[in-house]
Parts: sequence; structure tokens; C-alpha cells
Amino acid sequence: MSRPDARAGSGAGSDELAVRVRRVEPGDAQRLRTLRLAALTDAPGSFWQTVAGERARPFADWQARAGRHAAGDAHTTLLLERSGWPERSGELVGMTDVHQPSSAPEFRELAAMWVAPDARGSGAADALLDAAVGWSRSVGAIGVRLWVVPGNAAAVRLYQRHGFTVIGEPEGDYDDPLGKVYIPMLLALDHEEAASPTFLERARAAWTDDSA
Ligand SMILES: CC(C)(COP(=O)(O)OP(=O)(O)OC[C@H]1O[C@@H](n2cnc3c(N)ncnc32)[C@H](O)[C@@H]1OP(=O)(O)O)[C@@H](O)C(=O)NCCC(=O)NCCS
Repeated sequence: MSRPDARAGSGAGSDELAVRVRRVEPGDAQRLRTLRLAALTDAPGSFWQTVAGERARPFADWQARAGRHAAGDAHTTLLLERSGWPERSGELVGMTDVHQPSSAPEFRELAAMWVAPDARGSGAADALLDAAVGWSRSVGAIGVRLWVVPGNAAAVRLYQRHGFTVIGEPEGDYDDPLGKVYIPMLLALDHEEAASPTFLERARAAWTDDSA
């Protein structure tokens, strides 16, 4: 498996941020928890999970998640780190997860995409998304699906700019106290598979995810 680590972002201009994307490591459990709680606190309207629910998880869950996502072709978590700025180099400023749905193992599902507010508008989100798509491609996935709240203009725009298109109607989560709805977006990675008559049907299907 190829590592998705990549130096991304240039830091050359005053508005740009030098960042590096790296794969989570087994020892990142505490950092992963902190980052995920920061994301849910910052943007509760963007995600299925709640900050209370994630905070209540036993630490062993985070250790298991970091370990499971650190290796192999099924799942990964990519972390966005500042680089090239000595005082804050290594500080984590974003993350995303990529899962292999057990019912559609030829696809990957992108989730938990977050960039810290002070790193937005810098190209950091592009670096993270490029790494997630690149990793999915490197493990042979035929497409990447994600769910996004339709009113989340920055996220929808980011995904569109990277080639994702809306493939279905909004769907709600009955357990969600905020009553949010999400639309599915898809990026095809394999032209031959994308031409298959069942491709969209498979991409739109309800998938199970037992990776979290
Ligand atoms: C979604 C997210 C990762 C995007 O990161 P970012 O650094 O803002 O991304 P970009 O700078 O590439 O901006 C994306 C686009 O949205 C636009 N945009 C930024 N903020 C916006 C806003 N508040 N309203 C409308 N458009 C906005 C940008 O101009 C850009 O459009 P362009 O491609 O036409 O230039 C980041 O905003 C975030 O973490 N949000 C909270 C969590 C979240 O919503 N995650 C997605 C879950 S599906």
C-alpha cells in the first residue's frame, strides 16, 4: 500500500499555509480524539455524530480506531499538519476518514472532513481531499462517495471543484436531534466501472460501515 503522506500547500504566498498530510499512526489516539472533538464542537451542523456522543466513547475506541486506520487498504484517517512554520509545525489543523463499506468493498466513503477555521481558504482542504482521493485510488477503489448537508456551501463547492457530483436525493437521519439532511456525492475513479449500468445503482445503495 502506498502511503498518502504528501507535502501539500506551498506556503509561498502570505495567504497560503504550508501543510503536510499524513496517515494516522497507532500512537495518535489522543490527538485523533482531540481533533474530532474540535471538529464536532466547531461544526455540529456538518456531521452525523455529536460531540457528546464522541466525548463519551471509551479511550480504547480511539486507540482501536487509530490502529485500524493506520494500516491496510480498507480504512484510513488522514491528518493535516502545519509544516514550515517552526513554532507551530506539527500542529494538527484538519482530518478526514476514508472507510471501506462492507457491503460495497469496491468503493470508499469519505467522512469527518474538517479543516480548522484558521486554516480555511488556504488550499489546506484541497491537500487533504487530494490525499484522501489519492489514497482511495491507490487501494484500487472505483469511486469515492460522501454525504454532505446541502446548505454547507463551502463543503459542496470544495467537493464539486474536485469532481464530485450529486447522485441522489437528500436523506435524513432519524436519530439526529438537529433533523439534518444530507445529499450523496460521488467521484468516479475508474472510467470502465463508471460506464457499467450498475455503477450508479451500487454507488447510491445504502452501505453499512463497521469501521468507526
Ligand atoms: C468544508 C471545509 C473542509 C472546506 O475547507 P475550506 O478551507 O473552507 O475550503 P476552500 O477554501 O477550498 O473553500 C471551498 C469553497 O467554498 C467557498 N466558501 C468558503 N467559505 C464559504 C462560505 N461560508 N459560504 C459559501 N462559500 C464558502 C470558497 O470560496 C471556495 O469556493 P471556490 O472553489 O469557488 O473558491 C471547511 O470549511 C470545514 O472544515 N468546514 C466545517 C466542517 C465541514 O463542513 N466538513 C464537511 C463535512 S461533509
